Amino acid sequence: MGKDSFAVVLAMVLVACVSPEERKCQLSGLWRNEQDSLMEISVVSSNGDFRGKYLTQVTLTGTCARASPLKGAQQQPSEGGWPTFAFTVHWDKFSNATTAFVGQCFVDTGGKETLTTMWMLREAVGSLQEDWKATRVGRNVFTRKRTSKGKILPSLSTSCEDTSSPAP
Ligand code: BTN
Repeated sequence: MGKDSFAVVLAMVLVACVSPEERKCQLSGLWRNEQDSLMEISVVSSNGDFRGKYLTQVTLTGTCARASPLKGAQQQPSEGGWPTFAFTVHWDKFSNATTAFVGQCFVDTGGKETLTTMWMLREAVGSLQEDWKATRVGRNVFTRKRTSKGKILPSLSTSCEDTSSPAP
């Protein structure tokens, strides 16, 4: 067997060797979606509740986003299952909208974690007549963003948060 074939076989064996423990899904940590939005989930408590921060890269009005609080809960996974979860983000620093996400975490045989979600975004409108256009729906897929220890969401982003209020 040549060197290259050996390396391929070794890689396949290693990939197949991710232990069941490593294939468990942990929601806590830093995640990025396909729109380049960042989400940081802090520790998930024993009853499944969690909190965090969300920094979106896209906004309804095109204005600069600010890190916004998120609050959610995950379903306690049964043996060998991957958790479903839901969380809401209140864009309270720059918008009067709210988004609710629901999703599930998956871990592939190589240990790569993916959060697939669907979301509904509710924008505040001024009258009942405008209610019909106030809700949007979409899908986001998140993958874990590896980061050096100590780096947290705001320090990874070049949002307006970093530039809007320069120190006097
Ligand atoms: C607003 O612009 O008023 C609120 C920001 C909404 C951002 C949405 S939520 C769903 C989608 N996924 C993201 O990461 N950002 C957008």
